[in-house]
Amino acid sequence: MAKTEKTTSDVLFVSSEVFPLAKVGGLADVSASLPQALMKLGHKVHLLLPAYPSAMAKAASKRKKEPIAELIVQGYQVRVWQSVLPGTSLVLWLVDVPELFDRPGNPYQNPEGHDWPDNAQRFGLFARVAAMLALDRAGLNWQPEVVHCNDWQSALVPALLDGQPARPATVFTVHNLAYHGWFPYSTFQELALPMHFWSHERLEFHGQLAFIKGGLVYADRVTTVSPTYAEEIQTEAFGQGLDGLIRHRHDRLVGILNGIDEQEWNPARDPHIIRAYEADNLDGKVACKAALQESQGLEIQPDAPLAGFIGRLVDQKGVDLIVEVLPGLLDSGCQVAMLGSGSPELEAVIAEVAARYPGRMSVFIGYDEGLAHRITAGADIFLMPSRFEPCGLNQMYSLHYGTLPVVHAVGGLRDTVFDETTTTSAQANGFSFEPATAAALWSALARCLECYGNKKHWKTLQRNAMEQDFSWDRSARAYSDVYSLAREDRASQI
Ligand code: ADP
Ligand code: GLC
Repeated sequence: MAKTEKTTSDVLFVSSEVFPLAKVGGLADVSASLPQALMKLGHKVHLLLPAYPSAMAKAASKRKKEPIAELIVQGYQVRVWQSVLPGTSLVLWLVDVPELFDRPGNPYQNPEGHDWPDNAQRFGLFARVAAMLALDRAGLNWQPEVVHCNDWQSALVPALLDGQPARPATVFTVHNLAYHGWFPYSTFQELALPMHFWSHERLEFHGQLAFIKGGLVYADRVTTVSPTYAEEIQTEAFGQGLDGLIRHRHDRLVGILNGIDEQEWNPARDPHIIRAYEADNLDGKVACKAALQESQGLEIQPDAPLAGFIGRLVDQKGVDLIVEVLPGLLDSGCQVAMLGSGSPELEAVIAEVAARYPGRMSVFIGYDEGLAHRITAGADIFLMPSRFEPCGLNQMYSLHYGTLPVVHAVGGLRDTVFDETTTTSAQANGFSFEPATAAALWSALARCLECYGNKKHWKTLQRNAMEQDFSWDRSARAYSDVYSLAREDRASQI
């Protein structure tokens, strides 16, 4: 096999979300912090994102941005703007196609919460522009050695690059296999994709077009965001119908746990919280709890255990399990603060329970970055009973803030939360349960509340949690290794 000498790479990092420019979930956090960690290791990273209005506004407010390329792609006039990710020196390229991206709402949905009907066209075009940049066909005189794509929105890039003699190595990261980017055959035709892609060994999935297969089939290397999820997605239970393909590519697959951005999520210097704190002095956390109780209309009771939830209100997150245990939990004297948005049914159910428990339970429906920090800091317990969880960032943020998580032992939750019934006491940092049932959640909560009653024991778990290493360094090194392997794969094909 040909050997690549250079250990650092020029990288085009392609994502549909980047914090703080455009965020729906954890993909945005990772797409901001991983490239920075890679840069620290010496990689030269260019970050590529659609020019959503929020991205254009926020990128411009920090530093001047300028158009560096103008292209016509499939009849669309495309401009590429260059800026930097706010607060960093990371080069940011924004793909500006006003008809497709200059819209209100979030990256995928209109303000009413419905997917844009032309998402295939939007991200199909985004992928085509990424592929042109990757081949240095936009007149920029720069070509990456590695193109790193993330989730279905950029998964067509490795497919579009396949067979191109001058193509760079490709890496595809699965953040969530549940989102395939599924569209009918008519969309496949509208996108004018090469006809040979229409095969179940390529982009077809049960008579539909599945964008995600572009990454899974064609990328030189595939990664996902935790070691356990890398195993799980090779099984029928978690494979979303793609487990056969993933098993076929298992020798190209690796699970690398996400890190957290300690500039953004750090209780010792978090501008969103009322008082900073550290592992050896938790007085600030007590103040954060009182402030959270007050702001959320909860009774100010320092001793009442307070459980938080933050997340997308979708099946994945196991919110239905929380709903089942809520009455028991609230009746036992626990308080609950929830923040999220998503399914209108789940939004209505949790709001209805909160209305029955004034002063004991609060619900904020919507997206609020500051409140997410205040719940993470002010709660004692963090609820995360996800049915599946590729990695999960919220449990890591909570651990870092000394807020002990109660999790379903699955995916990245299994890799980061250690229950004392299954680990050494020096490692124990939370409570986990399986299977994903309300009864199992309830019994983990009962153990959690009993532990909360023993302050010394609780403090030990908090210390273990807060001292855990969630920095990106180790994970970024693992991505570096993947880049080297992808480049070796590519070199051996030439
Ligand atoms: P996922 O990517 O599946 O949504 P993660 O745990 O990886 O789950 O990441 C979720 C991210 O989105 C976290 O940064 C979390 O704080 C944030 N988040 C989710 N919902 C909200 C909300 N309603 N308001 C503020 N932040 C939210
Ligand atoms: C996805 C997953 C989540 C993961 C995030 C970032 O949205 O649902 O588990 O933490 O991507 O990788």
